Amino acid sequence: MIPTIQPDDYQHIIFFTGAGMSAESGVPTYRGHGGIWHQYNWEAYACQKAFDRDPQKVLEFHELRRKAALTCQPHDGHRVIAELEQQHPAVTIVTQNVDGMHQRAGSEKVIELHGSYWRVRCSRHGVTEDIGEAYSGYTCAQCGEWLRPDIIWFEDMLNQTVISQATSAIAQCDLFISIGTSGVVWPAAGFPEIASKNGARCIEINPEPSPQSQFCSDVITQAAGEVLPKLFDLCN
Ligand code: OAD
Repeated sequence: MIPTIQPDDYQHIIFFTGAGMSAESGVPTYRGHGGIWHQYNWEAYACQKAFDRDPQKVLEFHELRRKAALTCQPHDGHRVIAELEQQHPAVTIVTQNVDGMHQRAGSEKVIELHGSYWRVRCSRHGVTEDIGEAYSGYTCAQCGEWLRPDIIWFEDMLNQTVISQATSAIAQCDLFISIGTSGVVWPAAGFPEIASKNGARCIEINPEPSPQSQFCSDVITQAAGEVLPKLFDLCN
C-alpha cells in the first residue's frame, strides 16, 4: 500500500538515497544481486592503499564506472524528486551515490556524502570537476601528481563539513524518505534513527527489508521508480 503524500503538509523534506535509487537506471548496486562488491574486491580498487599501490589500475576502474554511469539515464523517481525541489521551499537530497544521477535529473540541493565520480583531487592543488567518460588526465596539470577520484573509499575519513550539513538538515526535517540503501555503511546508516528520534515521519522505499525499516512508519517494498510518482500523486 502506497500512501499519498501532500508535500505542503511538511516544512522540511529529506530524500536520503543509496545505490537502489539508481538501480532502475541501470547503475549496479554495491551489494545484493549483481552488486559491484561481488564482482570486484574493494581492497584492490576502492581504498587509499590500493591507490598508493597502483593508481593507474584504480583510475582505470573508476573510468569504467564513469563510462557505465553515462550510458544510464535518470528515471521517473529522480525526476519526481527534482520536480518537488522546484516546487517546495525546503527539499534536500542527501545521497550516498557518487553517480550524479540526481543532478542530471535537475536536482540542485544535493549533499553527496561519499563524493562524486565527476571530481578529482590533487593533494597539493585541491579538488577539480572532471565530467566526461574518460578523465581529462590521470595526473595534475600543475604538479604532475596522480589525481585521486574525489570519492570516500573504504577506510577513509568522511568529510566532516558534509556530514554536519547532512546531520543538521536531517535533524530538522519532518518528512524523511529513505530510498534504496542497505543501511550498513556508517554514519549514513544512522540517519533514519536521527530523523525518527526528532519526530519526522519516516518512509522507506526498498524491495528488501533493511536495518532501517524499524525506524519507518511506512515501509514500501517496491522499486523507487514505481513508487515515487505514486507517493506524490504525480503519475501523469
Ligand atoms: P547497497 O548496494 O548496499 O544497497 C542497495 C539497496 O538498494 C539494497 O537494500 C537493495 O534492496 C535496494 N534496491 C535495489 N533495487 C532497488 C530499487 N529499484 N528501488 C529501491 N531500492 C532498491 O548500496 P548502498 O546502501 O547505497 O560507498 O551502499 C552504501 C555505500 O556502500 C555506497 O555509497 C558505497 C558502498 O561501498 C562508497 O562508494 C563510498
